[in-house]
Amino acid sequence: MEYTTLGRTGLKVSVAGLGCGGPSRLGMRNDPQSADNAVALIKQALDLGVNFLDTAQNYGTEPIVGRAIAGVPREKLVISTKKTLPLADHPHPQAEIVKGLEQSLKLIGTDYIDVYHLHGVEPKDYDVAKHRLMPAMHRLKAQGKIRFIGVTEGFATDWAHTMLQESLKEDLWDVVMVGFSLLNPSARKTVFPLTAKTGAGVLDMFAVRRALSQPERLQTLCRELVEKGAIRKDSIDVNDPLAFLTKETDAATLPEAAYRFCRHEQGVDVVLTGTGNPAHLKENVAAILKPALPKPVLEKLEGLFGGLDYLTGN
Ligand SMILES: NC(=O)c1ccc[n+]([C@@H]2O[C@H](COP(=O)([O-])OP(=O)(O)OC[C@H]3O[C@@H](n4cnc5c(N)ncnc54)[C@H](OP(=O)(O)O)[C@@H]3O)[C@@H](O)[C@H]2O)c1
Repeated sequence: MEYTTLGRTGLKVSVAGLGCGGPSRLGMRNDPQSADNAVALIKQALDLGVNFLDTAQNYGTEPIVGRAIAGVPREKLVISTKKTLPLADHPHPQAEIVKGLEQSLKLIGTDYIDVYHLHGVEPKDYDVAKHRLMPAMHRLKAQGKIRFIGVTEGFATDWAHTMLQESLKEDLWDVVMVGFSLLNPSARKTVFPLTAKTGAGVLDMFAVRRALSQPERLQTLCRELVEKGAIRKDSIDVNDPLAFLTKETDAATLPEAAYRFCRHEQGVDVVLTGTGNPAHLKENVAAILKPALPKPVLEKLEGLFGGLDYLTGN
């Protein structure tokens, strides 16, 4: 495993992080009875040298993380979890933040969280987050119950990073979680220059997601892009749109190429990978440790998707 520094937090983190949410939730989304497998998956990640685990109040995987890390020296781990935002008209939003954190500590079985995020903050939530929720986050940090304050964007709807662009001007976050992939590299222009200024650590989500792991979804997506003129018909084979990623590189699969694309982006600290499949986990960690894709291939990707900022890969 390779390790890096998570921005201004100074935390030493593995460049591959295990995402315990996403479409797989460690395999528990499709099979809620698979808790033992999910625990084994986290232990496998730890054995591979992953020390960064990302979960959330609403994933249902905090207790799984707790089971998997029992007995592991706490200082060897960097635990990231998230608080679902209280409703905008919640009468006591700060108490809700504190309650959520206490629940997370209990479920994970730890007395502090390394990175505690406000989860999925959309542009419409930003004022509430800043004025009504942040005071509680700062108090928790001062008490040592959380070490650093993070935010994750609502990328499924805020694919052009509006919330992050606005909030990073004000330097609220120690860490941000941003959607960045070969299908939507727009954070390169709009977010990473800002995180470079504030020193916020950067976690990458949506590296692969559905479109880059399910060929039929990719075909549908690319057909739609061609139909609406977003990419030229003669620039892509819609039946196998990204075949060049495996034909013109040493990447064995499209997910491998997609994780490598993210890993070597200047500005990304940790690439999160989410899976319920032990073989995928092994492949994905190996992919994240492989070299960058060749320049001509990166240029081809830039020509296809570099100008688009609305694809999520879902
Ligand atoms: N707003 C937020 O806060 C937010 C939103 C989304 C995600 N996240 C975090 O970011 C993490 C990463 O996001 P993500 O889970 O969407 O991750 P991802 O790694 O981009 O995509 C995961 C999807 O790709 C599939 N996959 C993974 N490796 C594969 C392989 N080698 N071959 C074929 N398919 C593969 C998985 O299915 P299999 O199970 O079959 O492998 C799963 O459906 C999440 O787990 C979560 O912790 C945060």
